[in-house]
Amino acid sequence: MNYFIHTYGCQMNIHDSEKIAGILEKAGYVACDEVENADIVVFNTCCIRETAEQKIYGHLGAIKKLKRTNPDLIAVVCGCMSQQEGVAEKIKESYPFVDVVLGTGNLNLLQQAIETARNKKKYVNVDFLHYREEDFPQSRTSYPNAWVNINYGCNNFCTYCIVPYVRGRERSRPLADIMSEVEQLLAKGYKEITLLGQNVNSYGHDLADGTDFAQLLHSIGKLSGKFRLRFMTSHPKDLSQDVIDAIAAYPNICDNIHLPVQSGSTEILRRMNRRYTRDDYLSLLERIRKSLPDVGITTDIMVGFPGETEQDFEDTLDLVRRAKFSSAFCFVYSRRKGTPAYSMEQVPYAVKKDRITRLLACQNEVTKQISAQMVGQKYEILVEGANNRYQNTMCGRTESGRLVNFKCDEDLIGRFVTVEIERASSATLWGRVSTEER
Ligand code: 5AD
Ligand code: SF4
Repeated sequence: MNYFIHTYGCQMNIHDSEKIAGILEKAGYVACDEVENADIVVFNTCCIRETAEQKIYGHLGAIKKLKRTNPDLIAVVCGCMSQQEGVAEKIKESYPFVDVVLGTGNLNLLQQAIETARNKKKYVNVDFLHYREEDFPQSRTSYPNAWVNINYGCNNFCTYCIVPYVRGRERSRPLADIMSEVEQLLAKGYKEITLLGQNVNSYGHDLADGTDFAQLLHSIGKLSGKFRLRFMTSHPKDLSQDVIDAIAAYPNICDNIHLPVQSGSTEILRRMNRRYTRDDYLSLLERIRKSLPDVGITTDIMVGFPGETEQDFEDTLDLVRRAKFSSAFCFVYSRRKGTPAYSMEQVPYAVKKDRITRLLACQNEVTKQISAQMVGQKYEILVEGANNRYQNTMCGRTESGRLVNFKCDEDLIGRFVTVEIERASSATLWGRVSTEER
Protein backbone atom coordinates (compact mmCIF):
# COMPACT_ATOMS: atom_id res chain seq x y z
CA MET A 1 0.00 0.00 0.00
CA ASN A 2 1.49 3.30 -1.15
CA TYR A 3 0.98 6.88 -0.08
CA PHE A 4 1.59 10.17 -1.86
CA ILE A 5 1.43 13.60 -0.19
CA HIS A 6 0.92 16.85 -2.08
CA THR A 7 2.32 19.59 0.16
CA TYR A 8 1.43 23.22 -0.52
CA GLY A 9 2.58 26.37 1.25
CA CYS A 10 5.08 27.12 3.96
CA GLN A 11 7.61 25.25 6.13
CA MET A 12 4.90 24.71 8.72
CA ASN A 13 3.03 22.59 6.16
CA ILE A 14 6.19 20.83 5.01
CA HIS A 15 6.74 19.80 8.62
CA ASP A 16 3.08 18.83 9.10
CA SER A 17 3.51 16.54 6.09
CA GLU A 18 6.32 14.78 7.97
CA LYS A 19 3.81 14.11 10.74
CA ILE A 20 1.22 12.91 8.20
CA ALA A 21 3.86 10.61 6.66
CA GLY A 22 4.64 9.26 10.14
CA ILE A 23 0.99 8.39 10.74
CA LEU A 24 0.60 6.79 7.31
CA GLU A 25 3.75 4.71 7.73
CA LYS A 26 2.53 3.51 11.10
CA ALA A 27 -0.71 2.48 9.37
CA GLY A 28 1.33 0.35 6.95
CA TYR A 29 1.70 2.64 3.92
CA VAL A 30 4.95 3.22 2.05
CA ALA A 31 5.93 6.47 0.28
CA CYS A 32 5.80 6.43 -3.53
CA ASP A 33 7.09 8.87 -6.15
CA GLU A 34 4.15 8.87 -8.56
CA VAL A 35 0.63 9.79 -7.52
CA GLU A 36 -0.63 7.20 -10.06
CA ASN A 37 0.82 4.40 -7.89
CA ALA A 38 -0.75 5.60 -4.66
CA ASP A 39 -3.46 3.89 -2.61
CA ILE A 40 -3.87 7.00 -0.50
CA VAL A 41 -3.32 10.60 -1.65
CA VAL A 42 -3.13 13.42 0.87
CA PHE A 43 -3.51 17.09 -0.05
CA ASN A 44 -1.89 19.13 2.72
CA THR A 45 -3.29 22.49 1.70
CA CYS A 46 -2.54 26.22 1.91
CA CYS A 47 -4.90 29.16 1.55
CA ILE A 48 -2.63 32.15 2.16
CA ARG A 49 -3.29 33.47 -1.36
CA GLU A 50 -5.97 32.75 -3.93
CA THR A 51 -3.39 31.34 -6.36
CA ALA A 52 -2.56 28.56 -3.89
CA GLU A 53 -6.22 27.62 -3.59
CA GLN A 54 -6.82 27.60 -7.35
CA LYS A 55 -3.85 25.30 -7.87
CA ILE A 56 -5.11 22.88 -5.21
CA TYR A 57 -8.65 22.72 -6.61
CA GLY A 58 -7.11 21.99 -10.02
CA HIS A 59 -5.03 19.10 -8.63
CA LEU A 60 -8.01 17.80 -6.63
CA GLY A 61 -10.01 17.44 -9.85
CA ALA A 62 -7.44 14.92 -11.15
CA ILE A 63 -8.33 12.48 -8.36
CA LYS A 64 -11.66 11.72 -10.02
CA LYS A 65 -9.81 10.19 -12.98
CA LEU A 66 -7.38 8.26 -10.77
CA LYS A 67 -10.31 6.76 -8.92
CA ARG A 68 -11.64 5.33 -12.17
CA THR A 69 -8.54 3.12 -12.46
CA ASN A 70 -8.25 2.53 -8.72
CA PRO A 71 -11.69 2.63 -7.04
CA ASP A 72 -10.12 1.88 -3.65
CA LEU A 73 -7.94 4.97 -3.77
CA ILE A 74 -8.44 7.13 -0.65
CA ALA A 75 -8.31 10.92 -1.08
CA VAL A 76 -7.60 13.08 1.97
CA VAL A 77 -7.74 16.89 2.13
CA CYS A 78 -6.26 18.52 5.23
CA GLY A 79 -4.39 21.66 6.28
CA CYS A 80 -5.20 25.35 6.11
CA MET A 81 -7.65 25.38 3.21
CA SER A 82 -9.96 22.79 4.74
CA GLN A 83 -9.99 24.74 8.02
CA GLN A 84 -11.46 27.80 6.25
CA GLU A 85 -15.12 28.47 6.84
CA GLY A 86 -17.37 26.74 4.32
CA VAL A 87 -14.60 24.79 2.55
CA ALA A 88 -15.41 21.37 4.07
CA GLU A 89 -18.98 21.79 2.78
CA LYS A 90 -17.75 22.96 -0.63
CA ILE A 91 -15.52 19.91 -0.97
CA LYS A 92 -18.37 17.61 0.05
CA GLU A 93 -20.61 19.09 -2.63
CA SER A 94 -18.27 19.78 -5.54
CA TYR A 95 -15.61 17.10 -4.97
CA PRO A 96 -17.67 14.12 -3.75
CA PHE A 97 -14.81 11.73 -4.54
CA VAL A 98 -12.82 13.15 -1.57
CA ASP A 99 -13.04 10.63 1.29
CA VAL A 100 -11.52 12.49 4.23
CA VAL A 101 -11.45 16.16 5.24
CA LEU A 102 -9.44 17.17 8.31
CA GLY A 103 -8.35 20.61 9.55
CA THR A 104 -5.09 21.95 10.97
CA GLY A 105 -5.89 21.15 14.57
CA ASN A 106 -6.87 17.49 14.41
CA LEU A 107 -4.19 15.56 12.52
CA ASN A 108 -4.32 13.11 15.39
CA LEU A 109 -7.60 11.83 13.89
CA LEU A 110 -5.97 10.81 10.61
CA GLN A 111 -5.48 7.16 11.51
CA GLN A 112 -9.13 6.81 12.53
CA ALA A 113 -10.24 8.72 9.41
CA ILE A 114 -8.32 6.32 7.14
CA GLU A 115 -9.96 3.32 8.76
CA THR A 116 -13.38 4.88 8.16
CA ALA A 117 -12.48 5.58 4.52
CA ARG A 118 -11.28 1.99 4.05
CA ASN A 119 -14.81 0.96 5.01
CA LYS A 120 -16.09 3.19 2.19
CA LYS A 121 -17.47 5.84 4.52
CA LYS A 122 -16.68 9.56 4.45
CA TYR A 123 -14.88 11.24 7.36
CA VAL A 124 -15.24 15.00 7.63
CA ASN A 125 -14.05 16.76 10.79
CA VAL A 126 -12.50 20.22 11.07
CA ASP A 127 -12.87 20.61 14.84
CA PHE A 128 -9.92 22.23 16.52
CA LEU A 129 -8.48 19.71 18.98
CA HIS A 130 -5.27 20.68 20.69
CA TYR A 131 -3.25 17.59 19.86
CA ARG A 132 0.23 16.98 21.22
CA GLU A 133 3.19 16.47 18.87
CA GLU A 134 4.40 13.62 21.02
CA ASP A 135 1.22 11.66 20.36
CA PHE A 136 2.26 10.52 16.92
CA PRO A 137 5.36 9.55 14.98
CA GLN A 138 7.13 11.70 12.40
CA SER A 139 8.83 10.63 9.21
CA ARG A 140 11.48 13.26 8.50
CA THR A 141 12.66 13.89 4.97
CA SER A 142 14.91 16.91 5.31
CA TYR A 143 18.17 15.53 6.75
CA PRO A 144 20.57 17.14 7.74
CA ASN A 145 17.95 19.71 8.75
CA ALA A 146 15.10 18.98 11.13
CA TRP A 147 12.05 21.18 11.65
CA VAL A 148 10.81 21.62 15.21
CA ASN A 149 7.54 23.36 16.06
CA ILE A 150 7.81 25.67 19.05
CA ASN A 151 4.49 27.47 18.85
CA TYR A 152 1.36 27.14 16.75
CA GLY A 153 -1.22 29.64 15.60
CA CYS A 154 -1.13 33.42 15.63
CA ASN A 155 -2.73 36.20 17.67
CA ASN A 156 -1.66 39.11 15.50
CA PHE A 157 -4.53 39.44 13.07
CA CYS A 158 -2.72 41.39 10.37
CA THR A 159 -5.69 42.65 8.40
CA TYR A 160 -4.78 40.81 5.16
CA CYS A 161 -4.00 37.46 6.71
CA ILE A 162 -6.07 34.29 6.97
CA VAL A 163 -3.60 32.42 9.20
CA PRO A 164 -5.09 33.35 12.60
CA TYR A 165 -8.45 32.04 11.37
CA VAL A 166 -7.17 28.71 10.10
CA ARG A 167 -4.36 28.02 12.57
CA GLY A 168 -6.10 29.28 15.70
CA ARG A 169 -4.73 31.17 18.71
CA GLU A 170 -1.10 31.06 19.76
CA ARG A 171 -0.09 27.96 21.71
CA SER A 172 3.50 27.38 22.88
CA ARG A 173 4.97 23.94 23.42
CA PRO A 174 6.50 23.47 26.87
CA LEU A 175 10.25 24.16 26.88
CA ALA A 176 11.03 20.67 28.20
CA ASP A 177 9.20 19.02 25.25
CA ILE A 178 11.10 21.13 22.72
CA MET A 179 14.44 20.46 24.42
CA SER A 180 13.83 16.74 24.49
CA GLU A 181 12.95 16.71 20.76
CA VAL A 182 16.02 18.81 19.88
CA GLU A 183 18.35 16.64 21.97
CA GLN A 184 16.99 13.47 20.38
CA LEU A 185 17.45 14.92 16.90
CA LEU A 186 21.05 15.92 17.61
CA ALA A 187 21.75 12.49 19.06
CA LYS A 188 20.42 10.98 15.81
CA GLY A 189 22.92 13.05 13.83
CA TYR A 190 20.84 15.97 12.56
CA LYS A 191 23.14 18.96 12.03
CA GLU A 192 20.66 21.78 11.69
CA ILE A 193 17.54 22.48 13.71
CA THR A 194 15.00 25.01 12.44
CA LEU A 195 12.53 26.18 15.03
CA LEU A 196 9.13 26.92 13.53
CA GLY A 197 6.37 29.25 14.62
CA GLN A 198 4.14 31.82 12.95
CA ASN A 199 5.72 34.28 15.35
CA VAL A 200 8.64 32.66 17.18
CA ASN A 201 9.37 35.82 19.15
CA SER A 202 6.15 35.54 21.11
CA TYR A 203 7.09 32.00 22.19
CA GLY A 204 6.16 31.44 25.83
CA HIS A 205 3.73 34.35 26.23
CA ASP A 206 0.97 31.86 26.96
CA LEU A 207 3.03 29.66 29.29
CA ALA A 208 2.56 30.14 33.01
CA ASP A 209 6.26 29.72 33.85
CA GLY A 210 7.55 32.92 32.25
CA THR A 211 9.65 31.14 29.60
CA ASP A 212 10.40 33.26 26.55
CA PHE A 213 12.10 32.87 23.18
CA ALA A 214 15.45 34.25 24.37
CA GLN A 215 15.48 31.64 27.11
CA LEU A 216 14.73 28.89 24.60
CA LEU A 217 17.65 30.11 22.46
CA HIS A 218 19.95 30.06 25.49
CA SER A 219 18.87 26.52 26.37
CA ILE A 220 19.54 25.21 22.86
CA GLY A 221 22.63 27.36 22.29
CA LYS A 222 24.27 25.79 25.36
CA LEU A 223 23.95 22.24 23.98
CA SER A 224 27.26 20.72 23.06
CA GLY A 225 28.34 19.42 19.66
CA LYS A 226 28.56 21.11 16.29
CA PHE A 227 25.18 21.95 14.83
CA ARG A 228 23.29 24.96 13.53
CA LEU A 229 20.16 26.51 14.94
CA ARG A 230 17.80 28.57 12.77
CA PHE A 231 14.30 29.84 13.44
CA MET A 232 11.40 31.39 11.60
CA THR A 233 9.32 33.58 11.45
CA SER A 234 10.16 36.70 13.50
CA HIS A 235 7.63 39.50 13.84
CA PRO A 236 9.46 42.86 13.94
CA LYS A 237 7.29 44.16 16.78
CA ASP A 238 8.38 41.31 19.07
CA LEU A 239 12.08 40.83 18.28
CA SER A 240 13.70 41.79 21.57
CA GLN A 241 17.28 42.82 22.33
CA ASP A 242 17.47 39.72 24.54
CA VAL A 243 16.91 37.58 21.46
CA ILE A 244 19.51 39.50 19.45
CA ASP A 245 21.98 39.09 22.34
CA ALA A 246 21.25 35.35 22.53
CA ILE A 247 21.96 34.97 18.80
CA ALA A 248 25.23 36.85 19.28
CA ALA A 249 26.23 34.78 22.31
CA TYR A 250 26.28 31.32 20.69
CA PRO A 251 28.23 30.27 17.60
CA ASN A 252 25.66 27.51 16.98
CA ILE A 253 22.84 30.03 16.49
CA CYS A 254 22.93 31.25 12.91
CA ASP A 255 23.15 34.97 12.23
CA ASN A 256 20.12 34.75 9.98
CA ILE A 257 16.75 36.34 10.63
CA HIS A 258 13.59 36.15 8.56
CA LEU A 259 11.91 39.43 9.41
CA PRO A 260 8.88 40.18 7.22
CA VAL A 261 8.44 43.92 6.70
CA GLN A 262 5.37 43.71 4.37
CA SER A 263 5.50 47.41 3.42
CA GLY A 264 7.77 50.43 3.69
CA SER A 265 4.89 52.83 4.25
CA THR A 266 3.94 53.65 7.84
CA GLU A 267 0.35 54.34 6.81
CA ILE A 268 -0.01 50.98 5.05
CA LEU A 269 1.66 49.22 8.01
CA ARG A 270 -0.90 50.87 10.30
CA ARG A 271 -3.75 49.64 8.13
CA MET A 272 -2.20 46.18 7.99
CA ASN A 273 -2.22 46.21 11.82
CA ARG A 274 1.50 45.41 11.89
CA ARG A 275 2.09 47.60 14.97
CA TYR A 276 5.44 49.09 13.91
CA THR A 277 6.36 52.02 11.70
CA ARG A 278 8.82 52.21 8.84
CA ASP A 279 11.29 53.95 11.18
CA ASP A 280 10.81 51.31 13.91
CA TYR A 281 11.72 48.68 11.36
CA LEU A 282 14.77 50.51 10.04
CA SER A 283 16.09 51.17 13.55
CA LEU A 284 15.54 47.53 14.45
CA LEU A 285 17.71 46.57 11.45
CA GLU A 286 20.37 48.96 12.65
CA ARG A 287 20.29 47.44 16.13
CA ILE A 288 20.50 43.90 14.76
CA ARG A 289 23.46 44.78 12.51
CA LYS A 290 25.30 46.47 15.37
CA SER A 291 25.20 43.22 17.36
CA LEU A 292 25.48 40.85 14.37
CA PRO A 293 27.56 42.52 11.65
CA ASP A 294 27.44 39.51 9.27
CA VAL A 295 23.75 38.79 9.70
CA GLY A 296 21.65 37.78 6.70
CA ILE A 297 18.21 39.32 6.87
CA THR A 298 15.41 38.08 4.65
CA THR A 299 11.90 39.40 4.42
CA ASP A 300 8.39 39.15 2.98
CA ILE A 301 6.92 42.11 1.12
CA MET A 302 3.48 42.62 -0.29
CA VAL A 303 2.39 45.02 -3.02
CA GLY A 304 -1.12 46.24 -3.74
CA PHE A 305 -2.55 46.16 -0.23
CA PRO A 306 -5.89 48.03 -0.29
CA GLY A 307 -5.36 51.78 -0.56
CA GLU A 308 -1.63 51.52 -1.40
CA THR A 309 -0.74 54.68 -3.32
CA GLU A 310 2.17 55.20 -5.68
CA GLN A 311 3.90 57.13 -2.86
CA ASP A 312 3.34 54.24 -0.40
CA PHE A 313 4.87 51.88 -2.94
CA GLU A 314 7.83 54.23 -3.51
CA ASP A 315 8.37 54.12 0.26
CA THR A 316 8.59 50.33 0.00
CA LEU A 317 11.17 50.57 -2.81
CA ASP A 318 13.14 53.07 -0.76
CA LEU A 319 13.11 50.78 2.27
CA VAL A 320 14.25 47.85 0.13
CA ARG A 321 17.24 49.90 -1.10
CA ARG A 322 18.19 50.82 2.47
CA ALA A 323 17.49 47.49 4.19
CA LYS A 324 19.91 45.36 2.13
CA PHE A 325 17.87 42.17 2.50
CA SER A 326 19.81 39.14 1.30
CA SER A 327 16.55 38.04 -0.29
CA ALA A 328 12.89 38.99 -0.23
CA PHE A 329 9.78 36.93 -0.89
CA CYS A 330 7.58 39.33 -2.82
CA PHE A 331 3.83 38.84 -3.08
CA VAL A 332 0.89 40.46 -4.76
CA TYR A 333 -1.79 41.14 -2.14
CA SER A 334 -4.58 38.57 -2.41
CA ARG A 335 -8.04 39.25 -1.06
CA ARG A 336 -8.99 36.70 1.61
CA LYS A 337 -12.60 36.27 2.64
CA GLY A 338 -13.18 36.78 6.37
CA THR A 339 -10.24 39.18 6.84
CA PRO A 340 -10.74 42.93 7.49
CA ALA A 341 -8.86 43.95 4.32
CA TYR A 342 -11.37 42.03 2.21
CA SER A 343 -13.84 44.87 2.50
CA MET A 344 -11.33 47.70 2.02
CA GLU A 345 -11.01 49.47 -1.32
CA GLN A 346 -8.91 47.26 -3.61
CA VAL A 347 -6.01 48.25 -5.87
CA PRO A 348 -6.56 47.40 -9.58
CA TYR A 349 -4.78 44.29 -10.84
CA ALA A 350 -2.75 46.17 -13.50
CA VAL A 351 -1.29 48.44 -10.80
CA LYS A 352 -0.37 45.46 -8.61
CA LYS A 353 1.29 43.75 -11.57
CA ASP A 354 3.34 46.82 -12.41
CA ARG A 355 4.44 47.18 -8.78
CA ILE A 356 5.48 43.57 -8.28
CA THR A 357 7.67 43.77 -11.39
CA ARG A 358 9.35 46.93 -10.12
CA LEU A 359 9.78 45.51 -6.62
CA LEU A 360 11.37 42.31 -7.91
CA ALA A 361 13.79 44.32 -10.07
CA CYS A 362 14.70 46.53 -7.12
CA GLN A 363 15.45 43.62 -4.74
CA ASN A 364 17.26 41.80 -7.52
CA GLU A 365 19.68 44.72 -7.80
CA VAL A 366 20.32 44.58 -4.02
CA THR A 367 20.85 40.80 -4.05
CA LYS A 368 23.22 41.16 -7.00
CA GLN A 369 25.35 43.67 -5.10
CA ILE A 370 25.48 41.50 -1.96
CA SER A 371 26.34 38.41 -4.05
CA ALA A 372 29.13 40.23 -5.91
CA GLN A 373 30.72 41.16 -2.58
CA MET A 374 30.74 37.48 -1.58
CA VAL A 375 32.85 36.37 -4.57
CA GLY A 376 36.37 35.44 -3.46
CA GLN A 377 35.33 34.95 0.18
CA LYS A 378 35.28 31.66 2.08
CA TYR A 379 32.25 30.47 4.02
CA GLU A 380 31.44 27.52 6.21
CA ILE A 381 28.65 25.53 4.56
CA LEU A 382 26.56 22.63 5.79
CA VAL A 383 26.22 20.28 2.80
CA GLU A 384 22.47 19.69 2.39
CA GLY A 385 22.20 17.51 -0.69
CA ALA A 386 21.96 17.52 -4.46
CA ASN A 387 20.62 20.61 -6.20
CA ASN A 388 18.45 18.88 -8.77
CA ARG A 389 18.23 21.99 -10.92
CA TYR A 390 21.80 21.34 -12.08
CA GLN A 391 23.66 18.15 -12.97
CA ASN A 392 26.13 16.70 -10.45
CA THR A 393 25.72 19.69 -8.18
CA MET A 394 25.45 19.79 -4.42
CA CYS A 395 24.27 22.70 -2.35
CA GLY A 396 24.25 24.08 1.14
CA ARG A 397 23.88 27.30 3.06
CA THR A 398 26.16 29.87 4.61
CA GLU A 399 25.47 30.74 8.22
CA SER A 400 23.67 33.85 6.95
CA GLY A 401 21.32 31.65 4.94
CA ARG A 402 22.62 32.06 1.37
CA LEU A 403 22.36 28.96 -0.81
CA VAL A 404 25.62 28.00 -2.54
CA ASN A 405 26.10 25.42 -5.33
CA PHE A 406 29.31 23.40 -5.60
CA LYS A 407 30.67 20.01 -6.62
CA CYS A 408 31.50 17.47 -3.95
CA ASP A 409 31.08 13.87 -2.96
CA GLU A 410 27.63 12.76 -1.85
CA ASP A 411 29.01 11.34 1.37
CA LEU A 412 29.69 14.89 2.53
CA ILE A 413 25.94 15.44 3.00
CA GLY A 414 25.44 16.45 6.62
CA ARG A 415 29.05 17.64 6.98
CA PHE A 416 30.47 21.12 7.29
CA VAL A 417 32.84 22.24 4.53
CA THR A 418 34.57 25.49 3.66
CA VAL A 419 33.54 26.82 0.27
CA GLU A 420 35.16 29.63 -1.65
CA ILE A 421 32.65 31.57 -3.75
CA GLU A 422 33.86 31.67 -7.35
CA ARG A 423 30.99 33.34 -9.17
CA ALA A 424 27.57 34.80 -8.60
CA SER A 425 24.63 35.49 -10.85
CA SER A 426 22.33 37.62 -8.72
CA ALA A 427 20.67 35.17 -6.32
CA THR A 428 22.70 32.10 -7.30
CA LEU A 429 26.17 31.53 -5.85
CA TRP A 430 28.68 29.00 -7.15
CA GLY A 431 31.73 27.89 -5.20
CA ARG A 432 34.55 25.40 -4.74
CA VAL A 433 35.09 23.24 -1.64
CA SER A 434 38.42 24.21 -0.16
CA THR A 435 38.37 22.32 3.15
CA GLU A 436 36.40 19.29 4.26
CA GLU A 437 35.51 18.63 7.84
CA ARG A 438 37.43 15.69 9.25
N1 5AD B 1 -1.93 38.20 0.15
C1 5AD B 1 -0.64 38.17 -0.25
N2 5AD B 1 0.35 37.78 0.57
C2 5AD B 1 0.03 37.41 1.82
N3 5AD B 1 0.78 37.00 2.85
C3 5AD B 1 -0.02 36.75 3.91
N4 5AD B 1 -1.30 37.01 3.58
C4 5AD B 1 -1.30 37.41 2.28
C5 5AD B 1 -2.32 37.84 1.39
N5 5AD B 1 -3.59 37.91 1.75
C6 5AD B 1 2.25 36.93 2.77
C7 5AD B 1 2.90 37.80 3.85
C8 5AD B 1 3.40 36.78 4.83
C9 5AD B 1 3.73 35.61 3.92
C10 5AD B 1 3.83 34.31 4.61
O1 5AD B 1 2.66 35.60 3.00
O2 5AD B 1 3.95 38.53 3.26
O3 5AD B 1 4.54 37.23 5.53
FE1 SF4 C 1 -0.48 36.35 9.36
FE2 SF4 C 1 0.39 38.54 10.61
FE3 SF4 C 1 0.10 36.25 11.98
FE4 SF4 C 1 2.08 36.47 10.19
S1 SF4 C 1 1.86 37.69 12.08
S2 SF4 C 1 0.66 34.72 10.42
S3 SF4 C 1 1.15 37.76 8.62
S4 SF4 C 1 -1.53 37.45 11.03
